[in-house]
Amino acid sequence: MTTTPFGAPAAVRTAAVAARATDLTKVYGQGETQVVALDAVSVEFRQAEFTAIMGPSGSGKSTLMHCMAGLDSVSGGSARIGDVELTGLNDKKLTRLRRDKIGFIFQAFNLLPTLNALENITLPMDIAGRKPDKQWLDMVVDTVGLSGRLKHRPNQLSGGQQQRVAVARALAGRPEIMFADEPTGNLDSRSGAEVLGFLRNSVRELGQTVVMVTHDPVAASYADRVVFLADGRIVDELREPTADAVLDRMKRFDAKGRTS
Ligand SMILES: Nc1ncnc2c1ncn2[C@@H]1O[C@H](COP(=O)(O)OP(=O)(O)O)[C@@H](O)[C@H]1O
Ligand SMILES: [Mg+2]
Repeated sequence: MTTTPFGAPAAVRTAAVAARATDLTKVYGQGETQVVALDAVSVEFRQAEFTAIMGPSGSGKSTLMHCMAGLDSVSGGSARIGDVELTGLNDKKLTRLRRDKIGFIFQAFNLLPTLNALENITLPMDIAGRKPDKQWLDMVVDTVGLSGRLKHRPNQLSGGQQQRVAVARALAGRPEIMFADEPTGNLDSRSGAEVLGFLRNSVRELGQTVVMVTHDPVAASYADRVVFLADGRIVDELREPTADAVLDRMKRFDAKGRTS
C-alpha cells in the first residue's frame, strides 16, 4: 500500500475538494417557457479525481459544466472552485479565475487554423501575457504524445490529435480543474480512446482534476466515478465504473423513465 509522507495510507487520506455545487439551480426562460435545467444539484469534485457525468439528452449535463466553470450564471445555490464562490465575483474577477484556475474542453476542438499545435497550446497564456512553466509544458506535451507534431497546423492533424492539442491547451495553464463536455463526441473510437487515455493520465500522473460529460459507457469507464443526472437532478453515482456496470445503470433509468 502506498503511504503519504505523514505515514497514513493513501486510501485513507481525504483529498481536498476542487469544486463543489450546493443546491445549484439553473432556470432558463420565464412563465410557460421556463425550463428548470438544474434542480438543487449538490455534488463535489475532489482533487486528482476523474469524474464522468452521464444522463439523457436535456438532463442538464452541459448546464452543470457551464455553471461550475463560470461560463453561465446560476439562478440559485452555490458553485465553488476551491474556496471561491463564483456567484459573488464580478466579471473581471470571474474572467481571471476562469483563465487561471479552470480549463474547458469543448466537443468541437476550437483550434485556430493558422496557428501550429504548440502556438495553439500556449495561446491562452500568450493572450494573458503569462509565461508558460517550461517544465510543466514539456510534461504536458510529452503526455499528449505530440512532441513530433508541434509544428503542424490543425488541418495536418487527425481528429484525435487535434482534440489532444485542445486538451493540452486546457492543461497548459495548470488549471485546478478541467471540465470537458463530450470531448470525444466528434471522434472515432480509436481517437476517442487516445484522448480518454490522456485525460486519465493527466489525473493519475499529473494529479489533475477532470470532470467530463459523456454519453458513452466505455468513455465513462475511464473515470474514477460516474455521476448520473436526470431532469436536472443527481439520481445515482457509481465508483470504479466498468462499461458494463454503467450500461446496466443506464438501462435501469430508461426503464424507470418509461414506466413513470
Ligand atoms: N440557453 C438556453 N435557453 C433555454 N433553455 C436551455 C438553454 N440551455 C439549455 N436549455 C435547456 O435546459 C435543459 C438542459 O440542457 P443541457 O444542460 O444542454 O442538457 P444536456 O447537456 O444534458 O443535454 C434542456 O431542457 C435544454 O433545452
Ligand atoms: Mg450537453
